[in-house]
Amino acid sequence: MSTVTINNLKFGMVVKYNVISQSGKIIIGEDRTIDEQAINRLKFYRIGEIIINDDYEYPDAPAAMLDDDTGSAEIVFDRATNHVYLPKSDSGKAIHIEQETYNDMKEQLKSSPTAHLHKMPERETNDFRQRKGYKKLLAGYSASLKATRNIFSRIKDGENVSDSEFSSVIDGAFNMENGSFSLFEWFNIIRDLNDPIYAQGINAALLCKALGKWLGFDHADCNTLAVCGLLHDIGKLTIDPAILNKPGELTDDEFNTIRSHTMAGFDMVKNLEIDPRVKKSILQHHERNDGSGYPFHRIQEEIHPFAQVTAICDVYIAMTSGRSHRKSLCPFDVMHELEKTGMAQFNGRYLFTFLENIATAYQKNTIILNDGRCGSIVMLNRNNYSNPVIQLEDDTFIDLSQTPELYITGIK
Ligand SMILES: [Fe+2]
Repeated sequence: MSTVTINNLKFGMVVKYNVISQSGKIIIGEDRTIDEQAINRLKFYRIGEIIINDDYEYPDAPAAMLDDDTGSAEIVFDRATNHVYLPKSDSGKAIHIEQETYNDMKEQLKSSPTAHLHKMPERETNDFRQRKGYKKLLAGYSASLKATRNIFSRIKDGENVSDSEFSSVIDGAFNMENGSFSLFEWFNIIRDLNDPIYAQGINAALLCKALGKWLGFDHADCNTLAVCGLLHDIGKLTIDPAILNKPGELTDDEFNTIRSHTMAGFDMVKNLEIDPRVKKSILQHHERNDGSGYPFHRIQEEIHPFAQVTAICDVYIAMTSGRSHRKSLCPFDVMHELEKTGMAQFNGRYLFTFLENIATAYQKNTIILNDGRCGSIVMLNRNNYSNPVIQLEDDTFIDLSQTPELYITGIK
């Protein structure tokens, strides 16, 4: 056996022993073959090195550094089959999508200095695109993406934007009353068509509005929370896209540059006719209750409640979306991380309301376990929402809170 750092792992290597997190959860099981998903989990849990089984030989295995594999995918549209292909994908699976809509979204992202179109990870793609309302939702989202770019540009130029314009963009991106898709399903579907500013803003707006409703905020406050989500990262327009989209590790200077987006965003809106709670959220959405945040290391009640809502939604959206330096993460991995570390950093009531509603939302979906079996969530465990009780396809039940070797690795 030998110890290998994460950056030197190769696809096909086999893990010698279970890799276990500080909380006792098995991150990667023994005998697991290293693949893209395994690397993603190891990076997510900040594992520096693991022990590999030497009984295997990997003469031609490519380096498994995700950073070398996250470039923009070349997209090919096959007119004969009406499919869009991502030829770099290991699976080579077709993605059924309307050519016009997809091209429109692709062009918007491509022409954005901050955008990054990610290679789609392997996952099932056959079901949701056949469902009622899918094309309409995608078209609405695409139009909102375009309108968001326009709004951001105007704000950057010092122009006021009306509340009705904000509402139009946010409500057009996803109909909350939609019966065919839940908001989280929608996020799961579009998570690879994301960029760190515009799509992040739209998705955070939708989620902030939803969390406001779950918390019992009134209608007007929920609409303001949505604007908090939409604009929270507008300061990133001032950051060099080369830094914003840099694959791999950032230098300390680059980190500081990215962190400047809160102040830059606040400076951008401070003299505009925008709700002061929105301005506060732009400034404070990276502050944390324990003082570990920035820019001013504010604590607890020093952080505005709207900024606290925005912060939770920002973290969830960012981690479940693909970025230039990593793939998108499974929502249940993100929930586990929030359960582990979130209580110290976020408002506890806000966080648990958030987690409970996410877990509930995924109850209608098929989930995939790390051993490949599929099932559905039949009961939530309070204080351990990321490990619910699962009913498998053979009608047996597993309480994931009692089986650390098993965890949810994907959602269909
Ligand atoms: Fe931010």
